Amino acid sequence: MGSLIELAAEGRGAFPHRPFALRHRLAGHPLFSLEKLVEVAGRMPSDGVEYNSGKVGIDQKPEETPLVDLPPTEVVRRIREANAWMVLKRVERFPEYKALLQEVLDGVARDMGHRDAGDAGFTNLEGFVFVSSPNATTPFHSDPEDNFFVQIHGDKFFHVIDNRDGTVVPPQAFEITPSMHRNLPYREEFESRATVFSMKAGDGCFVPYLWPHWVRTGDSYSISMAMTWKSAEVRRSNKVLFMNGLLRKWGFPQKPLGTNPALDSLKAAAYTALRAPIEPLRGSEALRNLIRGALFGRNANYYLAGRKG
Ligand SMILES: [Fe+2]
Repeated sequence: MGSLIELAAEGRGAFPHRPFALRHRLAGHPLFSLEKLVEVAGRMPSDGVEYNSGKVGIDQKPEETPLVDLPPTEVVRRIREANAWMVLKRVERFPEYKALLQEVLDGVARDMGHRDAGDAGFTNLEGFVFVSSPNATTPFHSDPEDNFFVQIHGDKFFHVIDNRDGTVVPPQAFEITPSMHRNLPYREEFESRATVFSMKAGDGCFVPYLWPHWVRTGDSYSISMAMTWKSAEVRRSNKVLFMNGLLRKWGFPQKPLGTNPALDSLKAAAYTALRAPIEPLRGSEALRNLIRGALFGRNANYYLAGRKG
């Protein structure tokens, strides 16, 4: 059998520096039926599922995001009419999704001439399943990882903005600060730099590390999955962006990532040293929230605050 994700020659040329369209064979896969996703929503810890109204602006103010007054399982069950947007985070916590993610990325790696995902340097494989009502919007934001995004059901319009010159989103906005909401300021003129992927079931796109984007669904409900991983370079960049966020919080704003490679290396090493002793504690949701709160204040757990149901 061929790979679950197919990259055309153009995609191989663009990877991992520019976005491109792709095709996949995951539409109709049993792990993405609404019935299965109801079950997954019911098994998630409360910090593993985030949802709100899909009737939001591209530049939505996070604190004014309208909520949906239903428990997660009901949101999925009633997704056709709930006017909701939902993400099931880190679904690789479940063995069946972990196996699928591994199979997909192993296939991509082999198509690129590697033995498997590990050999290609794809580590930290994580999966995020999006379940959205018709005509729902995901506000403008960026993600600190590379992403093969696959459209499973319904139509989705994915706008990826070219910010390689840093004029659309300033470097400070990419610092990793858990107390800051991910939404980024948006202006309509950004669209002149957009690549828009109009996707149906079977389509997908590659979203490069930190490329800002916003998304809307079409007239039917939508199921999609972000299949993400981190290369060694991305992991190092994230450590620096986290330290820059923490240092800014403590009153020591830093020059952007890449300005001073030697200092960046020091920050990455400091991150690793700081992280090691707390790593064993992170298995518990309560302790994860406590650690985030201790470092970044009450807002660090912002996505739990508005939880209903
Ligand atoms: Fe995203």
